[in-house]
Amino acid sequence: MKALDTVLKTACTAAALIGAINVLAMQPAYAADASNGKVLTEAHNCAACHGPNLNKPVSAEYPKLAGQHADYLYWALRQYQMGNGNPNFGRNNPIMAAQVQSLSQSDLKDISAYIESLDGDLVVKK
Ligand code: HEC
Repeated sequence: MKALDTVLKTACTAAALIGAINVLAMQPAYAADASNGKVLTEAHNCAACHGPNLNKPVSAEYPKLAGQHADYLYWALRQYQMGNGNPNFGRNNPIMAAQVQSLSQSDLKDISAYIESLDGDLVVKK
């Protein structure tokens, strides 16, 4: 009886865990907030290098950002954050690494959504 009890308890715990995992998996993806991204972009003064509207970099080494796909921007920013001087784990650029250290992943998504919404000169040539 004792053994059956243990088996049942274990099964119930496993079922509860699977239920919890399902609930987690069903959480909707974080919905990026472009208006918060605008606030963050201004507060972090990204335009100081990437130029007005993030579309006219102040130097040729600084890329144009306006209108770039949000997914691409998010991963670029995450890589600067994770790179930590090790190019095997991410982008290895000390300037951009410094820009993103204090930002959370949802901040980065908000910023990326905002930048994607900007009109820019980036084009897909056909
Ligand atoms: C001090 C100058 C400077 C500031 C300020 C700055 N950046 Fe950058 N940014 C750079 C440089 C330089 C690069 C290119 C780095 C490289 O070669 O990987 C870059 C690259 C990027 C890229 C990659 C673009 C691509 O096409 O791969 C993104 C995205 C980006 N910056 C976003 C931002 C955001 C968002 C901010 C504000 C939080 C910001 N930058 C602030 C200098 C700056």
